[in-house]
Amino acid sequence: MSAALPLALDPYLRDWLDLLLRVLHVIAAIAWIGTSFYFVLLDQSLRPVEKAEDAADGVAGELWEVHGGGFYRVQKYRVAPPRLPDHLAWFKWEAYATWLSGFGLLIVLYYLEASATLIDPRVADLEPWQAAASSIALLAAAWVAYDVLCRLLARSDWALGVAVLALTAVAAWASSELFAPRAAWLQVGAMLGTIMAANVFFVIIPAHRELIRAKEAGREPDPAAGIRGKQRSVHNNYLTLPVLLTMLAGHFAFLVTRDRAWLILVALMVLAASVRLFYNLRHGGRTIWAIPVAAAVAVVALAVALDEDEPSSGAPDPALAARGATVFASAGCGGCHTLAAADASGNVGPSLDALRPSASRVQGVVTAGKGAMPSFGAELTGDEIAAVAAYVSSVADR
Ligand code: HEC
Repeated sequence: MSAALPLALDPYLRDWLDLLLRVLHVIAAIAWIGTSFYFVLLDQSLRPVEKAEDAADGVAGELWEVHGGGFYRVQKYRVAPPRLPDHLAWFKWEAYATWLSGFGLLIVLYYLEASATLIDPRVADLEPWQAAASSIALLAAAWVAYDVLCRLLARSDWALGVAVLALTAVAAWASSELFAPRAAWLQVGAMLGTIMAANVFFVIIPAHRELIRAKEAGREPDPAAGIRGKQRSVHNNYLTLPVLLTMLAGHFAFLVTRDRAWLILVALMVLAASVRLFYNLRHGGRTIWAIPVAAAVAVVALAVALDEDEPSSGAPDPALAARGATVFASAGCGGCHTLAAADASGNVGPSLDALRPSASRVQGVVTAGKGAMPSFGAELTGDEIAAVAAYVSSVADR
């Protein structure tokens, strides 16, 4: 990978930063998503209070739980308890640590190595600084646009849901016009993740602070702040799974490199969010099996539709495959892969003879990279990639 920026990191240091930031990112995200799932489950499962004096104190509902060898009885107050407790647990650093480590990873892996990972000249021939600046500007723009939509459409959850979906679609499309395929999906996830973290930082935590300030000043807290915080918390809950999907984009080269990958992403995100819808309704006492059934049917339909979308899998053009043999040799594929027809016996990556990949699979992985396999999107032209794909798919173990 060429060091395209004067600030390029030493590769060894880069690897360590990658390891540490990635581990932190995954752990913080697990903690954050865990609390999101738990508290929305709790809110959805609250039952009427058993004791009249609790109700008189302002308890809105309670839930009995059994876990870890004991029973818990959790109560939620309508606004605030009559007296503030001495010890109060907050939930915010999960969110902040997830965002900070995620942004750190973006810097280390995407902004400092933009020409290898963020930029694909066939999508947009950007300078590294332009690509990094566009990515950061889009993160900020996503939050501003979302926050404005929430304020404008505060009254209708439905209208707001549709508007946020439209915003996501625009984000996915814009990213696909600017960035390399794999980075484009990740960018959409980073934008939604930024919205989630900003919800915590700018809305949810300030709402909690307002509740406490009001209690301390002896005035009745304004329930509106709490309601707004709750709405943003629910939004975050619906965004968890769509964002996780984008974070795994590196493993789905067969999808991210498609022509209309952004539309596929939007469809998959809607399906991922429908999983949350199912559980949130179920925890509230309404189990609607039609939701997971419809989602499963939609996944199969999508898979079938995309299969037909592929160029016919007939014999590849022999002239193209012949050119591909040259690309295979010059790009050094044989250093890592075994392919008898090319006299190659590398064993860093899987044996292509054993794998017998389709042309589109080769095309996807060569364009976008996968795991330890570097992306060739910036080094090879689209034609060369198509040629090497035709070659590998026609000679592997034949
Ligand atoms: C630096 C070593 C390296 C080079 C060079 C390399 N690959 Fe790979 N390749 C890998 C590794 C490692 C994997 C396994 C990636 C994974 O599954 O995480 C892989 C995976 C693949 C796969 C399987 C992808 C899948 O869907 O599972 C194909 C096909 C492939 N490489 C083709 C190529 C072609 C064609 C070239 C030359 C343009 C090439 N590779 C160059 C290391 C390399």
